[in-house]
Amino acid sequence: MAIPADLLTNAKPIDPALPAHREWLSKLQGNILNGHGRDHTINLFVRLPADADSARTLLKALAPMVTSALRQEAERHDFKANGLPGRLFCNLLLTAHGLRALGVNADRLAKFTDLTVEGKTTLKATFLSGMAEDAVSDLADPDPAGWLFGGPGNPVDLLVLLGDDDVGELGRRGRDVKDRLEAADCEIAQVVRGSALRTDTGEGIEHFGYVDGRSQPLFLTSDFTGLAEDGSIDPATTQEAGGGGLNNWNPFASLGLVLKSDPLVDDDAAFGSLFVFRKLEQNVRGFTIEEQRLADSLGLKERDRERAGAMAVGRFRDGTPLVISEFDGASPPKENDFNYGVDVNAENRPAGRRCPLQAHIRKTNPRGDIRRRFGLPDDDAERSRRIVRRGIPFGSRNRHPNAFQALDDLPSDGVGLLFMCFQASIRHQFAFMQNSWVNANDFVTNGVGIDPVIGQGGSDPHRWQAAYGVDGAVVTHGFGGFVTMQGGDYFFAPSIPFLLNPD
Ligand code: HEM
Repeated sequence: MAIPADLLTNAKPIDPALPAHREWLSKLQGNILNGHGRDHTINLFVRLPADADSARTLLKALAPMVTSALRQEAERHDFKANGLPGRLFCNLLLTAHGLRALGVNADRLAKFTDLTVEGKTTLKATFLSGMAEDAVSDLADPDPAGWLFGGPGNPVDLLVLLGDDDVGELGRRGRDVKDRLEAADCEIAQVVRGSALRTDTGEGIEHFGYVDGRSQPLFLTSDFTGLAEDGSIDPATTQEAGGGGLNNWNPFASLGLVLKSDPLVDDDAAFGSLFVFRKLEQNVRGFTIEEQRLADSLGLKERDRERAGAMAVGRFRDGTPLVISEFDGASPPKENDFNYGVDVNAENRPAGRRCPLQAHIRKTNPRGDIRRRFGLPDDDAERSRRIVRRGIPFGSRNRHPNAFQALDDLPSDGVGLLFMCFQASIRHQFAFMQNSWVNANDFVTNGVGIDPVIGQGGSDPHRWQAAYGVDGAVVTHGFGGFVTMQGGDYFFAPSIPFLLNPD
């Protein structure tokens, strides 16, 4: 049975246990509607054999490894009910280069063309051209010629993403898959390992030491409690399953934000999703020194000093959003029920007195700033840019990021984030976000500068307010350049029917 059309557009979380959803969920790859949750991953970037028949035979042979959305849900249920860990998780993801290597015909490829009109922007980035093609012009990336993979010197067709909590088992299974790929005349362009970093209480963090992966578009009934009787969201009673109301921010997204009807098969229950992978190296030492310099520039003392880093990120290390609290330690610390309507000037325009307009999470999810800035009637267009993040850190460290460490001992390379996200349109979502929000000097208003965490390209020096929540002295201090793009590409997560029968 196909997805009922209203679920692609309407605000009603879906219940995977309902028989009506079984068929399309069994045809959809896992990790899209909710994260696979494994703490360790191996990502094999592969070039398929030159001969299309051999490439298709290989894909068919790998397809049974893939974890469907239905199986992921069943495993999640088993884990909650009986503590049973899930099996090896697997996604198979193909670049446009890979689809061509499989011999996919031009008519089907044309269905990936993304003609969304993006106003005045010159943005070109699309799945069909690949990330490297538009990297310099649209994403302000370093020259792809120097990328570890995905650039012209080392193109990629297929990504085999394997995940498991048992790092030894993952290593063995990863080696088996690599052997199979090499035996089938594939070339391994790159192997990248990911490993979750967690706080004492189990929260996932990234290498700069901040809680990550908190704010996500949510799709499933299990992501919420207290839904209305007909299964829809009632802001008066509904909460996020992890805690926190929905009065100021509604994280729900309809399936149309992340799913695309699979152009590769004639099956109206077959869906896929567009996927972005970027290996982003983090200079932890540089970032931490800059946090201290900013705290000095702002004259912040003692407990207040933590605010400098929070001003770059938009949340404190424990996840407390800066816009709702001057200090960390909010309860719940990872609050997500907030927007920036409390941080406006007398004309109701975004002000940045509590949370700077350049802060990473305000740039990447303005939570109504666009409506307030341009006097729009609603947030629909802004919310349609959201992405479903599935990143995991890479690289090992001597000490946990939250343990005390001398600045000189912090890593300046070799660690970072394997940034990953799913969406219905790369051009409309990730590429627009990176190009027109993150890297845009004048977003959300003139002279804000680029995102201090991931912004690339030129920036006005950032302006920071020393006092919290009131108009006061403004300090000019450039902050950025601590995240470096090392390689990546655009992928499609095809439906399982295509993978089983790519002929
Ligand atoms: C949120 C760090 C790359 C988009 C966050 C948060 C942190 C963080 C600490 C707050 C936790 C949360 O709300 O989940 C980083 C680091 C990165 C990185 C260290 C690179 C090394 C990116 C990229 C994008 C991105 C490349 C997209 C272009 C987002 C979005 C949110 C977020 C959309 C959620 C904002 C919200 O809904 O409030 N990131 N991030 N991030 N990040 Fe990143």
